[in-house]
Amino acid sequence: KHCFIFNELDSTNNEAMKSTYPHYSLIIAEKQYAGKGRSGRKWVSDEGNLYFSIVLPPMPVEQLLPLNISTGYAICDALRNYADVSLKWPNDIVFNNKKLGGILIETKFSGNILEKIVLGIGINVNQLDFSHDIKEIATSLAIITERQYRTEEILWQILNNFEKNYTDLLKKRIDIIEKWCKYSMNFGKMIKIHLDGEKMELIEKGITDKGELIAVDHFGNERKIVLGDIYL
Ligand code: BTN
Repeated sequence: KHCFIFNELDSTNNEAMKSTYPHYSLIIAEKQYAGKGRSGRKWVSDEGNLYFSIVLPPMPVEQLLPLNISTGYAICDALRNYADVSLKWPNDIVFNNKKLGGILIETKFSGNILEKIVLGIGINVNQLDFSHDIKEIATSLAIITERQYRTEEILWQILNNFEKNYTDLLKKRIDIIEKWCKYSMNFGKMIKIHLDGEKMELIEKGITDKGELIAVDHFGNERKIVLGDIYL
């Protein structure tokens, strides 16, 4: 509904947190000098890629993980028009095990009441060169497909998909589980995951309708994982 485009911001998520923006505002930056990733990491944000945040009205906190999952699905589905990208739970967009995009959801509470949600999305679109420290773990659409893109075109497709999934999510719980599994790079495979301070090897079996990762251990015990980082 309202779209705000900046040449440069510290972080579109920080900007979107400001109270001046009504729900469903879209904040876009051509680059960010303090882009944020999950778990306090930074998100390198040079020109040529997509960095945007959507301001969303509050939803029950149990819906935040489903929101993560269905947004990841929406992005992956849109990018599949260009390249064979995959999902990595909870919300990484990957190709050949290298990261192409990510989602950072931030919330604002007043007391214990959720007031607003900021959904931040970063996609490496046109970047051809990554700095030494992330070369091995980052990629872009341009690197994969050897062409350049109009970022608006990609943004448009992601937003279209997102809108559809988001309205479905509000009406019922996630109904994209099977489709999500098809896109997941680790479906049916062994994953290594940090759980309660322990590194564990599990087989990924799918996700629940709450967005939790289902995985089984060597003894066949099923586990549902709400929080954790899959590493390789
Ligand atoms: C991740 O660690 O995978 C999440 C990366 C999220 C990056 C996006 S870029 C737009 C928005 N603004 C930020 O500062 N971060 C998110």
